[in-house]
Amino acid sequence: MPLQKTSIVLTAAVVATVLLGCRHLGPPTSLQKLNDQQTRGYWVFQTSCRQCHNDREDKPLQGPALMGIYQKKYLPSGAAATDERVQSTVLHGRNMMPAMGGSVNDKDMADLLAYLHTL
Ligand code: HEC
Repeated sequence: MPLQKTSIVLTAAVVATVLLGCRHLGPPTSLQKLNDQQTRGYWVFQTSCRQCHNDREDKPLQGPALMGIYQKKYLPSGAAATDERVQSTVLHGRNMMPAMGGSVNDKDMADLLAYLHTL
């Protein structure tokens, strides 16, 4: 039945579009919409992370882009994208990423994580 075949193909196309569409990252929250804590985190990021990571552009620098970091299930290393894991990466470093614990204190860390969640 040509008609049935057509609708199966159409349905498959719609399903594929939806599934592939889901992989697209939503854009980061605009800077004007950030709350106070997220804005402080933005500045922590500019000071301590920006030289190696893009936050608002999906392009690697020295390290992988952090845009959409919490929108994906896994970090580039394959570890789960959780606060614990991100925090431990910042504190202890990872391969070519230096430990940043010296420049990010507990309060900065909370602000930073709040900002990363808006990406
Ligand atoms: C001197 C450069 C540099 C700085 C500064 C830096 N990073 Fe990284 N970062 C890297 C590199 C390189 C990697 C890739 C490490 C690897 O997996 O080999 C990385 C990886 C990561 C990852 C992914 C970890 C994983 O498990 O895949 C996260 C998250 C991250 N960095 C967050 C941060 C944050 C937040 C800051 C700021 C506090 C920061 N980085 C500062 C270079 C840097």
